[in-house]
Amino acid sequence: MLADSNFRNIKKEKIIIFDTTLRDGEQAPGATMNLEEKLLIAKSLEKMGVDVIEAGFPCSSNGNFDAVKRISQIVKNSTICALARAKKNDIEIAWQSICEAKSPRIHTFIATSPIHMEHKLKMSETQVLEAIKESVSLARNLCPQVDWSAEDATRSNRDFLFQAIETAIKSGANTINIPDTVGYTTPEEYFDLIKSIKNNVVNIDKAILSAHCHDDLGLAVANSLSAMLAGARQIECTINGIGERAGNAALEEIVMAIKTRNDFYQVEVEIDTTMITRISKLVSSITGFAVQYNKAIVGANAFAHESGIHQDGMLKNRSTYEIMTPQSVGIEKTMLKLGKLSGRSAFKDRLKELGYEINDQLLEQAFIRFKDLADKKKEISDEDLVALVDSSIVNNQSELELLDLQVNCGTKKKAEVIIKLKIGDEEKQANLVSNDGPVDAIFCAIKKIIPHEASLELYQVQAVTQGTDAQANVVVRLKQNHKIYSANGADTDVLVASAIAYINCLDKLKNNKE
Ligand code: KIV
Ligand code: ZN
Repeated sequence: MLADSNFRNIKKEKIIIFDTTLRDGEQAPGATMNLEEKLLIAKSLEKMGVDVIEAGFPCSSNGNFDAVKRISQIVKNSTICALARAKKNDIEIAWQSICEAKSPRIHTFIATSPIHMEHKLKMSETQVLEAIKESVSLARNLCPQVDWSAEDATRSNRDFLFQAIETAIKSGANTINIPDTVGYTTPEEYFDLIKSIKNNVVNIDKAILSAHCHDDLGLAVANSLSAMLAGARQIECTINGIGERAGNAALEEIVMAIKTRNDFYQVEVEIDTTMITRISKLVSSITGFAVQYNKAIVGANAFAHESGIHQDGMLKNRSTYEIMTPQSVGIEKTMLKLGKLSGRSAFKDRLKELGYEINDQLLEQAFIRFKDLADKKKEISDEDLVALVDSSIVNNQSELELLDLQVNCGTKKKAEVIIKLKIGDEEKQANLVSNDGPVDAIFCAIKKIIPHEASLELYQVQAVTQGTDAQANVVVRLKQNHKIYSANGADTDVLVASAIAYINCLDKLKNNKE
């Protein structure tokens, strides 16, 4: 499995990074994102240099269609891909959603494993081959780029899989994706599968082979890298590895493995790795999926050295225990040298340095919140600023606004809350007393103003930075009619952040924003 050392002096081949955070990532229960959130992530992915953004599954809902369409209109430097089943209607809707993109791509799929064909599709091999021919030909007539996936490829009969791939290529597919849909394969087996496809499928050189791995056995990244060694030239992955069940291969791990071990892999990716930390935080705060502390590359402890021996080594020479620098993934401890008296232009300049170009209305809102924060907090770090601006952008569309919150509580008394909200043009107030503490009192008071049937699935608090004056980032997840909605709120006051997160989540739920 070693990369051939004869490649050493030859121009390195490029690996296409295909990000599916907005499609497979969104399929994780509770990761539903609204339009603004998807746009924000898509723009960040484009800026980071992602080659292909799978923006959604347009025929699944109007909200999904609108999001893919908007992303197609806005993103110029990445290919925009839309998912479609092997159905005429799906493919036509997918095309309508991406036809304005500078570089559009249709991704169509059908299962090829005996289990899926017999129990799910109830189709014979011949019928599946026919469906591949029809769906891929239709997609190719509409769109110059067609990605075809053999769902559950790793549990498919090899000879049939080869036939299916051959049919897809003959019908016009230019990328062939081999998903490990249920996260079942192993690095050695997946390597062998990709190699055997390369060696046995007629016309395989007319298509790019792609890996798409799920993490049910914790092997998604290893399997993807293994496929790459066997000749796959596209890797499908998501930020923080979010996705169905245990998730997908994590983009940041794949990219940093390729960069850090380039002596071994000897391929190229065109990703600005210094954006990794920021985009990981963005996806985490939008979806409410916390990143585990010891997660590779983006976990809070990924660059922390605790033991005395390690610290001693690091002080003598960082490379003793550090295989990549925190700076290479965008961790920098720069303090924003702005304070209460700073003006808009200094604020705007710093945002620009951090990669934000926002319109005047949003800038004004963010500036007001920045001034508020500067009143409460001694030092404002870039992380504070990123949390503040991201939540201003995401919550910009909300019809609900927290106008006032007063809380009175203590060890020997019930929690009393007075809360005032703005709903459209109306102001409404509620008073409430709870035996179960201030957060319960706030949520129940909000429920008095905005009645709903949703159950609270998650309430999570995380500090944006260190210190007791840190902003708290609160994530709230609500479930109604089997649908899960998540939203966040940030403030130096954890109760205010909780109220903001709760009303943002209700706003999503009320508007059924998908
Ligand atoms: O895991 C899978 O098989 C998929 C396909 C739709 C590509 O996500
Ligand atoms: Zn998948």
